[in-house]
Amino acid sequence: MKFFLDTANISEIKKGLEWGVVSGVTTNPSLVAKENADSFHDHVKKIAEIVQGPVSAEVISTNVDEMVEEARLLSSLDKNIVIKIPMTKDGMSATKKLVSEGIPVNVTLVFSPQQALLAALAGASYVSPFVGRLDDIGEDGIGVVRDMAKLFSIHEFDTKIIAASIRHPRHVFEAALAGAHIITLPFKVLEQMFNHPLTDIGIKKFLDDWEVYIKHHGY
Ligand code: E4P
Repeated sequence: MKFFLDTANISEIKKGLEWGVVSGVTTNPSLVAKENADSFHDHVKKIAEIVQGPVSAEVISTNVDEMVEEARLLSSLDKNIVIKIPMTKDGMSATKKLVSEGIPVNVTLVFSPQQALLAALAGASYVSPFVGRLDDIGEDGIGVVRDMAKLFSIHEFDTKIIAASIRHPRHVFEAALAGAHIITLPFKVLEQMFNHPLTDIGIKKFLDDWEVYIKHHGY
């Protein structure tokens, strides 16, 4: 199981790598737009150079030929670029074409096990179910991940499940338990995962006891 960061922010990525728990990055047009970079391609290239692991960059076009064109350009930026393609008919045609050229694809905006099967059959390396957005409309996002994982295991697909649209730390361990191979987290959720009041209380007690001991005995 791996953690990716769901961000296009360079300092967040550097922090996640420094902590030793992040091995890839996923971006989307909304996340990139938030960074206000002068050049989208330069920004993606910079992220890939820093991460040295899979970096998903999304196409904006919606028809096959333009998606493939855009994807080829993005893919030429770095060997670790994975192309994010939306779950549409054109998207699956583009996926098939890109896979035949050796370009890895992450099928995004996936909301059902049925869509995940289509992505796997088209040859996607990754499929991204959006857990939080399913929960938002009263569906069971984690349940969808669980069903996908079962299907992929029964039929021995190599496609990896990236649990996406993660809203809180509970989503993270539930997605891992449900069988997601990768979880892509917003930086805020990654930070929240470190927190437990008993850890803070424990550190304080150790340090207080140590101070009393040192006062009497020296180091
Ligand atoms: C997936 O890779 C997307 O970038 C992402 O997880 C979307 O999450 P959101 O629902 O928080 O926008």
